Amino acid sequence: MTPQAAASRRLSEKPIARNERLIVALDVPTPDQARALVRELGDSVQFYKLGLELLLTDGYFRLLAELVAQGKKVFADLKFFDVPETVAAAVRQMRSRGASFLTVHGNQRILEAACREKGDLKILGVTVLTSFDREDLEDLGFPAAVSVEELVLSRAKRALEAGCDGVISSGLEAKRLREELGTRLLVVSPGIRPFENRLADDQKRVMTDREAFLAGADYIVVGRPIRNAPSPREAAERIQATIAEVFSN
Ligand code: C5P
Repeated sequence: MTPQAAASRRLSEKPIARNERLIVALDVPTPDQARALVRELGDSVQFYKLGLELLLTDGYFRLLAELVAQGKKVFADLKFFDVPETVAAAVRQMRSRGASFLTVHGNQRILEAACREKGDLKILGVTVLTSFDREDLEDLGFPAAVSVEELVLSRAKRALEAGCDGVISSGLEAKRLREELGTRLLVVSPGIRPFENRLADDQKRVMTDREAFLAGADYIVVGRPIRNAPSPREAAERIQATIAEVFSN
């Protein structure tokens, strides 16, 4: 098989609108700043991620409802992690809020509890944060023999068994996830650094937008490379153009 054919076999074939494959992280301190960014991005972005920073403001759920009313999709990246019954109760509260995706951490019993209550919400299991490398795993007490890739794979298997719709993993592990688990899980990849001027920041397992999709990601999550760009709209449009090109066949 030619390298091109091998790559195209990994390319996501899920029926996802092309312009929804880019999820923009609204990591800003206030809902009004989020609204301003959404206005600026206009129809270049259809899918937004609302995370912990905005959760700690008064307007998280109002903003979520506004985005849904505008026809946007919302990924609630709240990374629930608690005893199974509390996680189940939290998912029950969350499922009628209009979000499409929700992240949950933890072991199989926690993920099972979340999936029991998910309704139409898609549950994404967090595998290993994209800001983590081997040293961070050691810091958490994992033995030296455990690699990031093995841990991502093992957690993704658990997520699948628990009934999750997908996982969060860096594009670096997407290839292996596709090889070992096929296409059943949605793979959502943050840690995307699309442009030449790769930022020096906390993300360690990074890839470009194109690389992540060629490795098998269904969606990419992009925060700072868009938010901090001289023109966020141009940055988003550039990524959408890459997506349109990658998925053109
Ligand atoms: O700014 P940047 O593009 O690094 O933003 C990535 C977003 O994805 C952040 O909102 C971060 O919380 C989130 N995320 C991540 N790694 C995960 C899960 C979520 O970077 N495993």
